[in-house]
Amino acid sequence: PLSRSLSMTSLSGLLPAWEEDELPVEDLLLFEVAWEVTNKVGGIYTVIQTKAKITVDEWGENYYMMGPYFENNFKTQVEGCEPPNPAIRKIFNMESSNCKVHFGRWLIEGSPYVILFDIGSAAWNLDRWKGDLWETCNIGLPYHDREANDSLILGSLIAWFFKELTDNLGDKPNVIGHFHEWQAGPGLILSRSRKIPMATVFTTHATLLGRYLCAGNADFYNNLDKFNIDKEAGERQIYHRYCLERAAVHCAHVFTTVSQITAVEANHMLHRKADVVTPNGLNVKKFSAMHEFQNLHSTSKARIQEFVRGHFYGHLDFNLEKTLFFFIAGRYEFSNKGADIFLESLSRLNYLLRVHRSDVTVVVFFIMPAQTNNFNVESLKGQAVRKQLWYGLIGQIPDMNSILDRDDFTIMKRAIYATQRHSLPPVTTHNMLDDSKDPILSNVRRIGLFNSRNDRIKIIFHPEFLSSTSPLLPMDYEDFVRGCNLGVFPSYYEPWGYTPGECTVMGIPSVTTNLSGFGCFMEEHVSDPAAYGIYIVDRRFRSAEESCNQLTQFMFSFCQQSRRQRIIQRNRTERLSDLLDWRYLGRFYIHARHLALKFVITWSALSPQTEGFRYPRPYSVPPSPSASLHSTPHHSDVEDSDDEPYDEDEEAERDRLNIKAPFVLGAVPEGKKKQPGESGN
Ligand code: UDP
Ligand code: G6P
Ligand code: GLC
Repeated sequence: PLSRSLSMTSLSGLLPAWEEDELPVEDLLLFEVAWEVTNKVGGIYTVIQTKAKITVDEWGENYYMMGPYFENNFKTQVEGCEPPNPAIRKIFNMESSNCKVHFGRWLIEGSPYVILFDIGSAAWNLDRWKGDLWETCNIGLPYHDREANDSLILGSLIAWFFKELTDNLGDKPNVIGHFHEWQAGPGLILSRSRKIPMATVFTTHATLLGRYLCAGNADFYNNLDKFNIDKEAGERQIYHRYCLERAAVHCAHVFTTVSQITAVEANHMLHRKADVVTPNGLNVKKFSAMHEFQNLHSTSKARIQEFVRGHFYGHLDFNLEKTLFFFIAGRYEFSNKGADIFLESLSRLNYLLRVHRSDVTVVVFFIMPAQTNNFNVESLKGQAVRKQLWYGLIGQIPDMNSILDRDDFTIMKRAIYATQRHSLPPVTTHNMLDDSKDPILSNVRRIGLFNSRNDRIKIIFHPEFLSSTSPLLPMDYEDFVRGCNLGVFPSYYEPWGYTPGECTVMGIPSVTTNLSGFGCFMEEHVSDPAAYGIYIVDRRFRSAEESCNQLTQFMFSFCQQSRRQRIIQRNRTERLSDLLDWRYLGRFYIHARHLALKFVITWSALSPQTEGFRYPRPYSVPPSPSASLHSTPHHSDVEDSDDEPYDEDEEAERDRLNIKAPFVLGAVPEGKKKQPGESGN
């Protein structure tokens, strides 16, 4: 075997302590390889992009990211420049007809250097490289799998780069290569098999088989140890990809994954224990005053309300002031992302709200990219009518002195005529290519939620990621999230799941599950997560039917909260941000690099100390978790009124001051510090 498993493991909940020795980064070069560098696909892009800042802070000019070159991404996100490091410059200056490589600074926080390889320009080598791969490890790639072939081209170029680099560098500095996900696997496999002197880390953000088996409705978690993995991979025609993934996992000096639950999965699917669990963080921006993020909620919400006004023109028979906005977002994996149980629960919630004669309406957004043929006419018309009404009636307020002259009448008639509509507001905003078989639309048809007057749940399926340049809903995803009231992510397969974490740092409550890495992390580190606006649906120990009921109850209780209770809850939610900040979670990555370096250099003082932590429940919450959902701190026996004046900052401050337990993550309480030599676990 090329590597062995380390005996020391660092599990989530055991943070490497602050005191961990700093690496002599001036003697080292760090390269991080991922298909998502400058290339937005899903959550891995978020990992790479948000982590850049803290990595650059630590490594400065010695940190480089590597990935595929896409002309448009390069033009819009990168500023080309010369490599500052002489050894790297030398490689760039080499006359090579092999391929085109691009260098620059990625224009994100931290401005990391990026090295991007033009896959197309090197594709003519593919057959030879396939042969090399076969010679090296007997993995054959079929010609029709474009993704796998591209990953081999990228990997071959990266291995070539590392070979040149280490030849140029001589003894020092040492090189660390950190590879993400199976698409970066070939670079790692080839570098190791060619015995290039470097330390390697491989991080997986999911297992291929896990994702496929779950999407195929297998009872995955109860049968982890029973699958015939080779057979399952073969039947799904992903055997070659699976081999690349498994080879990369076993070639790496250090293997990491993003959550404890995926570590267990990887142990079964890939047969290696994770050496480190590296939970995903975010770049948390703190506002100086608590009310600032609440104000942002308000302004973003107003923009969503505008959109809804247009979308429901002619049918706006519900009070927007009493309307809540829920949403689900992410890659379109219908059952893995839990859209199936979400829809079923929405149907039940609709029933509950109706029988309780609730005056609350919930508009639910599904933001999941599917194949479409542009926006549909009906949705565009809705926004046009709204604008026409605005400019026609409000933009030019009729002259009060000659009120209602003939022109004003014409304007009003036209406006009233425009608002007449014979069809219901559309469920989707786009023309779907596969309308009849689309799983969200099929289920909407089944449960009959067609945005009709009597329904308290309205559905808007936006089958494209959001963008501020959209003519329909011109908002960035971040602004959209800020304007919503609840994110609902009842995933069945979710190694981490950024979406609820992103809600948390923006102070927006969310639903997650105990089958998502994020949900488990919160359950482990926060007492009473629901009080902080993190509702964890049990999808592990309950049937789908029971999970649906639980989700329905969470949403129904949420709908019963007063505005004031929602404001208090948002304050609490936002307070968990620190827990998700890369400034803390980045230490797991540091730890992984330390371990990898141990294999290639003698570095004496690498003995990380670890300590667990747990976030206390908010002081203002009464002891029973269920009651805490609706608690109003210090006013529990007073009926809430939305009109009462209320000072959010004062409330937040009171809550904060009353917290007694230690708050700083990873802080080692006095007297509990471990002695040198004592095991980290
Ligand atoms: N996202 C986005 N625009 C959208 C909707 C989602 O950029 O309109 C991003 C979101 O910010 C998140 C990512 O998509 O970072 C989804 O990551 P997650 O880890 O939740 O799931 P994955 O898609 O990787 O399975
Ligand atoms: C923020 C604003 C308030 C606003 C509230 C709406 O807290 O500061 O002025 O009333 O949001 O909250 P809601 O939960 O009803 O969207
Ligand atoms: C994968 C997983 C997702 C995770 C992301 C980043 O795409 O599906 O759960 O958040 O990687 O690690």
